[in-house]
Amino acid sequence: MSEQVVRIAIWGSGSGSNAQSIINYFKIRAGVEVALIVSDQPEAYILKRAEQAGIPRIYLNAGQRKDASFLIQLMQDHRISMVILAGYMRMVNPGFLKAFPGPVMNIHPSLLPAYGGKGMYGHFVHEAVLSAGEKVTGITIHFVNEVYDEGEIIYQEKLEIDPSWDAEELGKAVLKIEHRCYPEIIEKIAKKLPDNL
Ligand code: GRF
Repeated sequence: MSEQVVRIAIWGSGSGSNAQSIINYFKIRAGVEVALIVSDQPEAYILKRAEQAGIPRIYLNAGQRKDASFLIQLMQDHRISMVILAGYMRMVNPGFLKAFPGPVMNIHPSLLPAYGGKGMYGHFVHEAVLSAGEKVTGITIHFVNEVYDEGEIIYQEKLEIDPSWDAEELGKAVLKIEHRCYPEIIEKIAKKLPDNL
């Protein structure tokens, strides 16, 4: 069991609302520190959130994203034990995934394996769920491997779809669940990390 503070890096490409909920959650709790925010988009709002919260941030250009040793060194320099993907829109460098010693986690806005895979992100997920006439959807938190959305599932939570919702309203309801669950699951996994990670 880890007694130390587990330093995490959040990787994202967009608004970073999940990153914000994670930052807020751990601001008032011991055990986990959001120590770095990474983005593949120089103008992403997630970087602004990092700045506002006084958290080190870095934009990764294409060359850096392709360079597994650079990414490993970056995580080592910031003493990162866990990588949290939160709206990160690219495949993570497979060499990095192989070499990074700690867990890498992701959150997806559907009940995987349903509505996962390439092209299934953001409103596309919710539109597909609604046009299939689903009555229930939800969120999935999973470990990341080299295949899109196919790593081991850690946690899922269901959401009953209100028949009056459009894709945007459904998206909002799903995000609300994400914001509540993701920090709690991160905390649980962090507590189980061996001290040497
Ligand atoms: C979330 O819906 C998450 O499930 C997906 O990307 C979205 C990120 O939103 N992977 P935000 O950037 O956290 O607001």
